[in-house]
Amino acid sequence: MAERPKLVLAMRRDIVDLVLPPALRARLDTLADVHPLLVTDASDPAADAAFADAEILLTGWGAPEVDAALLARLPKLGAVVHAAGTVKHHVHPVVWERGIGVSSAADANAGPVVDFTMATIVLAARRTLGAAADYHRGVQPSYPERRGADGAVVGVIGASRIGRGVLARLASAAADFEVLLADPYVSADEAARLGARLVDLDELCAGSHIVTVHAPDLPETRHLLDARRLGLLRDGAAVVNTARGRLVDTEALARACETGRLDAYLDVTDPEPLPEGHVLHRLRNVLLTPHIAGCQGTEVARLGAYAVDEVARFAAGQPLLGAVRVEDLARIA
Ligand SMILES: NC(=O)c1ccc[n+]([C@@H]2O[C@H](COP(=O)([O-])OP(=O)(O)OC[C@H]3O[C@@H](n4cnc5c(N)ncnc54)[C@H](O)[C@@H]3O)[C@@H](O)[C@H]2O)c1
Repeated sequence: MAERPKLVLAMRRDIVDLVLPPALRARLDTLADVHPLLVTDASDPAADAAFADAEILLTGWGAPEVDAALLARLPKLGAVVHAAGTVKHHVHPVVWERGIGVSSAADANAGPVVDFTMATIVLAARRTLGAAADYHRGVQPSYPERRGADGAVVGVIGASRIGRGVLARLASAAADFEVLLADPYVSADEAARLGARLVDLDELCAGSHIVTVHAPDLPETRHLLDARRLGLLRDGAAVVNTARGRLVDTEALARACETGRLDAYLDVTDPEPLPEGHVLHRLRNVLLTPHIAGCQGTEVARLGAYAVDEVARFAAGQPLLGAVRVEDLARIA
């Protein structure tokens, strides 16, 4: 058997057993020579011995920033394999400049977000929050007042990996959804193949019963849904955000929800967490969750499994499936 690549784990101590439960850790040990030190703080001089021979840095949440100073201590590094989503917070451009491979497990994180979003869209289509609040007060909606999902128009912002997953679910749902898509990187033909009609963002806002946000947090996507665009939404429409809080003007949305004009299902906000006592915490037409759409608990091992498969590919000299290309950084999460 060829010599196993030397690998260093770098992430928060409290997540390592979730990322690599025993069976995965055992598989990793067959694929790589894993240094016994878990690096939680790269400034620890004890890490130097681990870094000196490391060919793979397997990172997770809380990993140190991989910049020129750290690379100087990692002379043999061939790949940064991230057992989480975005690499933007810890991998500096110098890593690509040195020809070091960078991989992310964002594909593995997408599935749970798609599930969560789809469940939310179905709830939103039925105006579930309002119905539940009325029911608690002893009010039963009459049949003509009830809303069904058939014919609901869902506006998807961003055919990202998660956006595409949601589009696929919308296309295969029992409900007869009509789907609009806004994404500057997608053609009308491609949108049609994804089951959607490509429109600009204003048209999407004006035409949708439910707007679901899946674009990355970039300078140009900040407040993509600002007060003006939220004003284009029809009365009773819902905003679903499982992407990033900065894409929506949280205060403008809160004002529209407070009047009862819009409903909101928000897994992310700006700021995050929202301050205690914020109006969004107490509105009956708002479902606020603390950034739980991505991998949680038992699902975190999906990220580890993806990363371990990447280590297998690296060891076999194969291309990394989750390779992050530097030229894509400006348009990805
Ligand atoms: N709530 C959670 O727990 C959670 C978990 C994972 C990801 N996320 C978030 O979900 C979102 C999608 O993540 P992803 O990994 O699928 O993203 P991604 O990296 O696949 O998104 C890139 C794509 O977004 C689209 N896009 C770029 N700019 C756009 C714009 N201005 N308007 C519309 N579309 C645009 C393009 O199609 C681009 O290729 C991100 O905001 C990410 O941070 C949230």
